[in-house]
Amino acid sequence: MATVGLPHSSTCEQAILDTWHANAVPWLHAVRGQTIASRVLVTDRAILETVCARHPRTAIDLGCGEGWLVRALASRHIDALGVDAVDALVQAAKRAGPGRFLTLDYAAVAAGALTERADAIVCNFSLLGDTSVNGLLRAIPGLLTAGGALIVQTLHPLTAMGSTYRDGWREGSWSGCGDGFGSAAPWYFRTIGGWLASLSGAGLQLTQLLEPLHPHDGGPVSMILVARVA
Ligand SMILES: C[S@@+](CC[C@H](N)C(=O)[O-])C[C@H]1O[C@@H](n2cnc3c(N)ncnc32)[C@H](O)[C@@H]1O
Repeated sequence: MATVGLPHSSTCEQAILDTWHANAVPWLHAVRGQTIASRVLVTDRAILETVCARHPRTAIDLGCGEGWLVRALASRHIDALGVDAVDALVQAAKRAGPGRFLTLDYAAVAAGALTERADAIVCNFSLLGDTSVNGLLRAIPGLLTAGGALIVQTLHPLTAMGSTYRDGWREGSWSGCGDGFGSAAPWYFRTIGGWLASLSGAGLQLTQLLEPLHPHDGGPVSMILVARVA
């Protein structure tokens, strides 16, 4: 993955939102059509098991997309709320039910638009930016119940780093997601140290680091960070 020469982080942050608005329909088809092999083979089950292992009564899925994880949690009797910036995805999630859904972007969440707390706050491949993510993370302690946890699944730094192991913007790609997508947005790569710095800057402390492996080649498919209020 190439590093991106765009000078302004805010340009990249806006491109992330614009791109998700523009690609809601192909994304819906990719997820519901089970097009993305790594999700089907590894990462869907990995995030679900990590959340359920904590036996939360309540959960908030930030960047919930078309809502599959909220539905999976709700079907396990967890009171789950999904939040996403893209209204087309949120409306599709509401139609598919069960679960509760709200259209909000991370800036609104960081500004206090969410008034409920949850035992588990989940971000499944949905923390894609730099300052937008750091702002959202700073709001997490105020959204967790006592003893609650933030659970983040993201690309594994080993496979996603590209040519340089340094925090920074990278070119995006829809490779492996199927057909119908337009251009991809840049995304902000964090090293493991970068993730720890973002968590600690938000008053959060890592309690568990999981590295789900590919069943065929044994390589890491993703990384799951579990954090609590420091
Ligand atoms: C790769 S998709 C993951 C969706 C879902 N978590 C899943 O597992 O299928 C990333 C999601 O993050 C959402 N997202 C990205 N930036 C966001 C922001 N600033 N505010 C709210 N949602 C955002 C996108 O709209 C998109 O639905």
